[in-house]
Formats: sequence, C-alpha cells, structure tokens
Amino acid sequence: MARLVIVSNRVPVPARKREQQAGGLAVVLEEALKGEVLWFGWSGRRAETLIVQPAMATRGATTFATIDLSEAEYRDYYAGFSNRSLWPLLHYRTGLVAFSREEYRGYRATNGKFAEALKPLLRPDDVIWVQDYHLIPLGRALREAGITQRIGFFIHIPFPPPSVIDILPPARELITDLAAYDLTGFQTEEDRENFAGCARKFLAGKEQAHAMAASVAIPVGIDGKAFAKMAKTSRMTAESHRLKHSLVGRKLIIGADRLDYSKGLPQRFEAYSELLATHAEYREKISFLQVAPRSREDVSEYRELKKSLDRLTGKINGKYAEFDWVPLRYMTHGLSRRLLAGFFRMAAIGLVTPLRDGMNLVAMEYVAAQDEEDPGVLVLSRFAGAAASLDAALIVNPHDTSAVAEAIHQGLTMPKEERHARWLALMSRIEQDSAASWCRRFLAGLTAGATSLRAAS
Ligand code: F6P
Repeated sequence: MARLVIVSNRVPVPARKREQQAGGLAVVLEEALKGEVLWFGWSGRRAETLIVQPAMATRGATTFATIDLSEAEYRDYYAGFSNRSLWPLLHYRTGLVAFSREEYRGYRATNGKFAEALKPLLRPDDVIWVQDYHLIPLGRALREAGITQRIGFFIHIPFPPPSVIDILPPARELITDLAAYDLTGFQTEEDRENFAGCARKFLAGKEQAHAMAASVAIPVGIDGKAFAKMAKTSRMTAESHRLKHSLVGRKLIIGADRLDYSKGLPQRFEAYSELLATHAEYREKISFLQVAPRSREDVSEYRELKKSLDRLTGKINGKYAEFDWVPLRYMTHGLSRRLLAGFFRMAAIGLVTPLRDGMNLVAMEYVAAQDEEDPGVLVLSRFAGAAASLDAALIVNPHDTSAVAEAIHQGLTMPKEERHARWLALMSRIEQDSAASWCRRFLAGLTAGATSLRAAS
C-alpha cells in the first residue's frame, strides 16, 4: 500500500497534542488515518536560525516532520496573507480583507520553503494530500520542484463565489494553483460549484476543464461512536461533577468555538440576552456557558472581537445577574476535547451559530455526546457546512437574533419524543459522513482519478 503524506500548517506532533482545541482538521485527520503516514508541516515554533531540515517524531505508524518558521515568515505567511486576506475573504467578510503584496510574496515563498523541505522526504509511490488555505500554492511548487506523485488538496473552510474571490488581487494565480492539483476537495456542493465558477471565470482550455472535472464535495466528519464513548466516561470526571454541582438544577446551554469573528459570538450573546428579555421565566433557571479559547491574537480583528465580547458579557451579566446566579459564563481559555464531551452531554442546548463555517465539527460532537434516553437540542446556523446534512437540528439565521432566541426557547420546551426523533436523524447522518469515510472517499478519488486525468493532459 502506498504511503500517505499529509501536509498541513498545524501538525499534532506528540509533544504538542495537549494544546489542541476541539474540532479542527488535525482532529479529523487523526481519527481517519490508517496505515503508514508521513505528516509534514509547521512545528508551531518561530525561530531566527533558518534550518530547513525537518524535526522528526513518531507515534505508531505516523511519522511527523516539522519545520520552524522565521518571524518574517510567520508574519507574512500565517498572520498576514493566510489570516488577514484569505481567512476573511473565504468567510465572505470582504470588508475585513487587508491585502498586502509583501505578505502575499511571503506566503508564496513560505509555500516554496515547505516544498523544498518536503521533497527529500518523499518516496516515488507516495500519495500526497495537502490541507487547507495556508498551502494553496504548495502543489504547484512541488510540481515545479519535479515531484510527479499524485497530489490532492482539501479546503476545510468555505469557498465563496467568483465575485467574492475576484476581490483578491492575486485571484487568478491562486485559482491556477488549485487547478494544479490532481484532485481538489470542498466541504459542500455549494463550495465546489463556487470553485467551478472561478474556473470558468479565471481559467481557460485544458486547465479549466481539469479544474472542473477534478473537484469534489466530500464533507468532513467525526468518529461519532468514539466521541459518544468519550462523553459518557467524561461525565464521571471531577470537572463534570463540579459543573453539575454549580448548575444547582438549572438547564445548561453550551457553546464552544475559537474566539473568531466567523463564529458569530456577539450575535449569539445578543440572542441570549434577548431570550432573557422576552422570556423572563428563564431568568435564574438557565445558564449559558460559552467556551471561547483566544486565537490569532497577532491579528487586530481578533483582539477587537475579544474586547467587544468582554464588554457584552459585562453588559448582560450586569443587567440580569442575581447575587447567586450568573446568566452567562464566558471563558477565553480552551478545555480539552474530553472535558468538553462531558459538558456537551450535560447541556440541554448546543448553540452553534457561525456567520460562516466550512463544516463545524462541534455541531457533530454536541450531537454525538448526547444521552440517547434524554438528548439535548442542537441550534445550528444555516451558514455552517454541517447544516447541509444536519437538517434535523433547529436551523437558524445567526443574524436574526430574535429567531435564535426563539429557537433556544423551542429547544428548551421541546417534548422528549421530538428531541429523540431529531437526535436519531442527526446521529444517522453523523455516522454516514464520518471522518473515516471522508478520508476514504477523497483518497479513492485521488488514486482512481489522477492517472486518467494526468494521462489526458
Ligand atoms: O478551520 C480551519 C482551521 O485551520 C482548523 O483546522 C483549525 O482548528 C483552526 O483553523 C485553527 O486555526 P489556527 O491554526 O490559526 O490556530
């Protein structure tokens, strides 16, 4: 069997595993990978001495190879072009795009450095699978370095229509990069169609035909059974007991997201505030726990968001708190996935209301964590990729705070039979679109399609 080479910006090298947040591509891949794997990417460290020689580590059948970034590479490639241009643009937030030619040059150069460091590690029969928006040019850089192995690419975040992509000055170059892969994967059919639209707009001839034929929509998922098991055992931990004790019988509403403007946190807090304003019966009867680990603090929009959430939390708690009740518990550090699993199981409502999201695995994790006998209710944004399959959730428009408040009310008052029926429907989709099936389907496409596609070109 061919070795699989995964390339991603973040790599869950054994020593850094504890720092992982819930969700994210590292978690999906770890759950899905079988057989011999080489996982290559950034070490997460910034170094001034430029060593392109990767650091190696092994866990089971996976070898991790990581390189450091210089301060300038980190600034231009990661904090700069990836997270100040691509991230907002691909999440439809055109007003937040802060393009700089220098950062873009750094982004491409760092992709070149990844290619240079990866090349000597490759074997002739490897299958290479590049992950996410940080590494769009990597496939072409590898080809230019003489790599002929099959190379696939998967984008974990949304992909907007051509009119939005067009805003980015190097739009054509990036679409050309994507067309250089043997197979390009998207989370939803809508994302894939948007890419096909970009191929029509920016490419021509064989390149255009290849881009359109060699793109697929395959949703990422989780290992639902493993997460359910983790939730059951985590319910027994001291932390779960402490949370339960602190609730004194009140119903728990939970949210768990990186502190990112794509997650719709201010709107979610406003919706909760509206629920307390319009449904006074819930005051002192419910508790909303929002876990929002700080993220990308080198980017000013993230610091601004934190400030506004701090203010909003103060406003809501100042208005509604009693001496023995805090309506909104907001924490900006992360919890382990295991602990969150137990907390999800305890929560009557899971609030997942991003303004845009590629998929959103927390939505699936919340459902998988539920007690089959008495499941909670998922309130899910229609703008999360997960909404395409999890349509048995209460689907909301996160911009409509009154509708979100009403959905929470509907969830809190929903009869057990309906909660159970919805949960069963959600679970069957989660099991169908698992992490393992995502991996299998993509690799089957890459292996089967690549030969004929390359022969045709
Ligand atoms: O959603 C895209 C993604 O790269 C996830 O895989 C990951 O969980 C998240 O963003 C983390 O972002 P960063 O690597 O910038 O901390």
